[in-house]
Amino acid sequence: MQKPVFLESHQVIQSSALFSEIEAGLLAEQASISPKFLYDALGAHLFTAITLVPEYYPTAVETGLLTQYTSEIAAAIGPDPVLIDLGAGDCKKAALLFESMKPASYVAIDFSVDYLKDALEKLQSQHTDIPMYGIGMDFSQTLKLPTTISQTPRTFFYPGSSIGNFLPTEAQALLAQIKREALGGGLLLGVDLMKADDVLQAAYDDPLKITAAFNLNILRSVNAIIDSNFDVSHFSHKVMINHSKERVELYLEALRDTSVTWGGKQRLFKQGELIHTENSHKYSIASIQQLLNRAGFQSLKIWTDAQQYFAVIYAK
Ligand code: AVI
Repeated sequence: MQKPVFLESHQVIQSSALFSEIEAGLLAEQASISPKFLYDALGAHLFTAITLVPEYYPTAVETGLLTQYTSEIAAAIGPDPVLIDLGAGDCKKAALLFESMKPASYVAIDFSVDYLKDALEKLQSQHTDIPMYGIGMDFSQTLKLPTTISQTPRTFFYPGSSIGNFLPTEAQALLAQIKREALGGGLLLGVDLMKADDVLQAAYDDPLKITAAFNLNILRSVNAIIDSNFDVSHFSHKVMINHSKERVELYLEALRDTSVTWGGKQRLFKQGELIHTENSHKYSIASIQQLLNRAGFQSLKIWTDAQQYFAVIYAK
């Protein structure tokens, strides 16, 4: 049976670097934890559950666009692309494109490598004719592909509006790196668009409380990495819509005075104090065009739904 090849990333995820990053966030005046720590094994499954919640529209709308415009997208990209999936997760969105796109090879990159392994092995067994590679990489730091990956023009696939989880300056830097690594190829990007507060509020604080569980799980994920003692029951999920920064912000709010200790350090949280865990920026067509242009992409093809909730863009 054909097996995907798992490659050592150039930049091995250093546990000491993760420790320092978490520690710095916890000790800052406005405490924060990077959203990448949302995605331990349980977090990755909880995120998959979020994508099935009716109120979380981005996945359904993007999937609809990728399905409806699959032939146009494949035609824009051209034949036999080397498809590189950033934050591949369960690899389901890339798989939607396989039939029309017929990739020469498929490279799945994710921070949560254990989850990726299962998904990629399953996908490989369904598409034995496509060589597949898996890479565990924190590309939010640097995106540098191992030299074993084809040096011909590459097509990056960055769906789900994960670009929105970066600050616009960081997003521009990441897009510019993608442009360089594409070696003359392009980027198929999914972007969530700004919309009414009630739609955003329901999407990020769903009635089944799956997003709340996803957000709270970051404390368990951190406990496992730095051997801290966060008590999850002392916090609750909080969503704020920041209009001036055009983003949804996720926090954990202390329900009572509480503290966390790790490696001889301690942080006290007063009742009501917040830990910032995620930003989810929402773009307009004009603002995402501007960001892509600034990152070096000149030619853009854009598909959106009737409600203008979400955009899929092929940028070159
Ligand atoms: C992965 N990312 C694009 C999601 C978002 O919508 O910002 C993560 C998420 N956070 C809460 N729900 C979903």
